[in-house]
Amino acid sequence: MENDLNVAVVGFGWMGRVHAQAYSRVLHHFPDLPVRPRLRTVSEDVPGRAEAAAAQYGFAGTARDWREVAADPAVRAVSITTPNFLHREIGVAMAEAGKHIWIEKPVGLTTADARAVADAVEKAGVQGAVGFNYRNAPAVETARALIASGELGTVTHVRFRFLSDYAAHPDGALTWRYERERGGSGVLGDLASHGVDLARHLLGDIASLVADTAVFLPERARPAGATAGHTRAAGGAMGPVENEDHVSCLLRFASGARGVLEACRVSVGEQNNYGFEVHGTKGAVSWDFRRMGELRVSRGTAYQDQPVTTLYAGPGDGDYAAFQPGAANSMGYDDLKVIECHRFLRSVADGTPYGAGPRDAVASAAALDAMLESARSGTWVAVAP
Ligand SMILES: NC(=O)c1ccc[n+]([C@@H]2O[C@H](COP(=O)([O-])OP(=O)(O)OC[C@H]3O[C@@H](n4cnc5c(N)ncnc54)[C@H](O)[C@@H]3O)[C@@H](O)[C@H]2O)c1
Repeated sequence: MENDLNVAVVGFGWMGRVHAQAYSRVLHHFPDLPVRPRLRTVSEDVPGRAEAAAAQYGFAGTARDWREVAADPAVRAVSITTPNFLHREIGVAMAEAGKHIWIEKPVGLTTADARAVADAVEKAGVQGAVGFNYRNAPAVETARALIASGELGTVTHVRFRFLSDYAAHPDGALTWRYERERGGSGVLGDLASHGVDLARHLLGDIASLVADTAVFLPERARPAGATAGHTRAAGGAMGPVENEDHVSCLLRFASGARGVLEACRVSVGEQNNYGFEVHGTKGAVSWDFRRMGELRVSRGTAYQDQPVTTLYAGPGDGDYAAFQPGAANSMGYDDLKVIECHRFLRSVADGTPYGAGPRDAVASAAALDAMLESARSGTWVAVAP
């Protein structure tokens, strides 16, 4: 059909699957979207994985080498859901081939990688969306509006936490995530990148920071075969963990607000403990990903002993109405990706970017690079704009 848009997914691990599901569901939730995504090609490095994905999700074809996708004139948009070290090469090549790209965070290993992708997208005149999905949560959108309205007064101090146990098991395999060349800066790219994006989305640019990093599990077992997600590898030969398990950081925002950001991948007892607390001179707002539809808000004129109330996200908040008819029906992680998919495809249809894009990835990466430099030097570091 005229408005069909052929899409491809490169890398079919956890995120490849989530992107494919989002393309399949997006019209269920956003029927007015002027383009209809068609699953044309899935590309995978692991033999058999693309074929299995095609059989399960209905991709028309498979490719062992992502360059076949770049060379296929029928493919208009590409999800890049490979490990971090491939983001730059594939992202730049797809943009240069005229494909719109929906690329996972952190967009490469460094600021230079993210900038190369952003430059290529802009030069080619294609659309670029980046997987900073937490900003898509309807309650987060409402928190942002609340902060911007001034109802909380001037924001003074904030805390962002991204704590997880996905790497806490001592038998967790030494996958690409733990290598500097393929995974980059460990939990910084994995989780702190999301924290920085949320912080910027809610509060504006970070001016400077001071950070400390640590590796708490210095060795892991090498996997015996292909991996996806967080595979176990008990008994394998041990190898060194090359990148960060933990980062703690003090932030100074351009606005003058002060902040704390902590991210950890080996926090026993913490499962997706992601969220923020924002304090202003008149009120406060906090959010926890595990209770994604709730905001805790304190507002009024009491200053001291001011009550805290729970707001349940409902049809007036962000894109909530595309999923549920009334407040306090739970949404899930995958719904955030459907929202991201919608924004990406609307960008393609309208020729106007909506949602997080490659320049947001550059800004996030600049803060991560500043954290690494600060951890090395032990000093405050300006975050280059
Ligand atoms: N937005 C989020 O919340 C979120 C969550 C998890 C991961 N991510 C990001 O998504 C990306 C992928 O993470 P994941 O958890 O899905 O990893 P994963 O290891 O589960 O999947 C990566 C897949 O890419 C494949 N691959 C490797 N080299 C390839 C190549 N040359 N061509 C095609 N396929 C290739 C692997 O075989 C694997 O199937 C990472 O950049 C990660 O930071 C984002």
